[in-house]
This record gives sequence, structure tokens and C-alpha cells, in this order.
Amino acid sequence: MKKHNLTKTFVGVLAAGLVAFSVTAPVQAEEESAIARGGQLYDKWFAVIGADKPKDTHKAWPSSNTKKKGNATWRCKACHGWDLRGADGAYAKGSYKTGIPGIRKFDGGDPADVIAVAKDATHGLGMIPDTDLADLALFVTKGQVDMTKYINADKSVNGDVAKGAAYYNTLCAGCHGKNGEKPKDMKKSLGKVVSGNPWEGLHKIMNGQPDEAMPALRALPMDIVIDTLAYTVTLPKKK
Ligand code: HEC
Ligand code: HEC
Repeated sequence: MKKHNLTKTFVGVLAAGLVAFSVTAPVQAEEESAIARGGQLYDKWFAVIGADKPKDTHKAWPSSNTKKKGNATWRCKACHGWDLRGADGAYAKGSYKTGIPGIRKFDGGDPADVIAVAKDATHGLGMIPDTDLADLALFVTKGQVDMTKYINADKSVNGDVAKGAAYYNTLCAGCHGKNGEKPKDMKKSLGKVVSGNPWEGLHKIMNGQPDEAMPALRALPMDIVIDTLAYTVTLPKKK
């Protein structure tokens, strides 16, 4: 190939790359953040949209469970679990036991079906604005993680603790402290929270904390997320 042809080819490839980048990358980036926001809505939608906390107990909350009441029963996670597996997962027992199924079947499903479920008579969540329901539906259909691959029933995490230490110290310690002792208003240490409920830990690491500046690591490769989680569960249980 002659030199000027090479240059032309190079410019052509570069241009094609730029076009591909400008067409695909921002869209993906936008979707990734919408999914993370959907994950926060799944966690505590009323905190994310700044709505009043529901006062009554949700009508779909079974009377057999008297341990939880009021706004706690309105969070998607309360009925369907941090692990998204409902009665088949961690909420098969404990204070959130309800017998309600998980949402794993909707993984890869149609977002419109999720919006319809949220507005149905069981859920009665039509007061959540459609734009927010759209993010929530993206999370349910495109953002689910099969947590059984990463977290075992005994709460152990299949990650590399040594690598996770470096990730934690650079990504999290600025806000949570090297020992998970911060922020001050957290009643329990981060190690206590996450070792007690690694499924919650994974959800928060991927999606962030509702109404807080905490980042969502969803855009990072899964091994970084899991290694970070594996280290976080080893942090001190006491503040
Ligand atoms: C108070 C409990 C409760 C809350 C809160 C709740 N759900 Fe549900 N959800 C249910 C029940 C009960 C069913 C099952 C209905 C049935 O058996 O057909 C269900 C079913 C579903 C299903 C269908 C699952 C399947 O496999 O058929 C999806 C999707 C779903 N809910 C999403 C959500 C989302 C998203 C939120 C938060 C905005 C939410 N739910 C909040 C009780 C709840
Ligand atoms: C910009 C600051 C910031 C960064 C960075 C940050 N977080 Fe957070 N995180 C917060 C705040 C603020 C809260 C809410 C604390 C509270 O409830 O008082 C929080 C809450 C949490 C919770 C939920 C605790 C609970 O009891 O509800 C977990 C788990 C968590 N963070 C883990 C992490 C991990 C792991 C990292 C690193 C990947 C991280 N965070 C990075 C600010 C941050």
C-alpha cells in the first residue's frame, strides 16, 4: 500500500471509530446510569423521587409478618429481596419473610410488563412518575445480577480479598474510612452491615445509595465489584 493510501485508510478507520463511538457509547452510558438509578428506586423509591414516606403498611404485605410495618413494606426490596429472589432467597427466613416470589423471571423481559406490574392492583404504585418507572423497569429487565454466582448461602463471597482491599481503599475509604467506620451517622460499621447482608452490599455497590452521593460501580467489570465486596465483608464489625 502506498503511503497516502495508508494515511487515508487510517483516517477512514479513525472516522468510523469516532462515528461508532459517538453513536453507541453515550447511549450505553446513559442506559447504565438509568439502570443504576432504577436499582436505587428498587431499594427505596420514595427517597429517590423525594416523595412523602408512605404511612400505612402496604396492602400486599402479609398479615403473617408483624415484624415490619409502615414505609419499610413499600420498598421493592422488602418483598422481592436484595438478591431479587424473594421467598427463594435470603428472605425465605428472618424479619422480611413474606412468601412473596422474586423477580428473577423478569430478567431479560419487556420493561413495559414491569411498568404494568407496578401499576397493577397488587402493587398500586401508579403514583411513581412514568419516567421513574421507566428507570425501575430497566433495572428489573436489564440490571439484574444472579447473585447466587457470587454470594453463597453461608454469606461467604467468591472474590479476591487482597485485590478488593486495593479497590476499597481507593474507591470507598474516602467516604467510609479505611475500617468502614464512616460516615458518622451510620449506626453500624460498614463491615457489620455488609457481612450481615452481603446481598444488600452488592446491590448498594452496583447501584449506589438512594439520595446520597455514593457512586454506582455498575459500569465496572464484575470481578472488581465482587472483589470489593469480598474485602468489605472482612472489615471490622465494631466502629
Ligand atoms: C408489599 C409487597 C410488595 C412490594 C413492596 C412490591 N411487590 Fe412486586 N409483587 C408482590 C407480590 C405479592 C407479587 C406476586 C403477585 C402474584 O403472585 O401474582 C409481586 C410480583 C411482582 C413481579 C412479577 C414477578 C413474577 O415473576 O411474576 C414483579 C416484576 C414485581 N412484583 C416488581 C416489583 C417492583 C419493581 C416493586 C417496587 C416498585 C415491587 N414489585 C414492590 C408484592 C410486592
Ligand atoms: C461519596 C461518598 C461515598 C463513596 C465513595 C462510597 N459511599 Fe457508600 N455510602 C455513602 C453514604 C453517605 C451512605 C449512607 C450512609 C448512611 O446511611 O448514613 C452510604 C451507604 C453505603 C452502604 C449502605 C449502608 C447502610 O446501612 O444502608 C453500603 C453497603 C456502602 N455505602 C458501601 C460502599 C462501598 C463498598 C463503597 C466503595 C465501592 C462505597 N460505599 C463508596 C457514601 C459513599
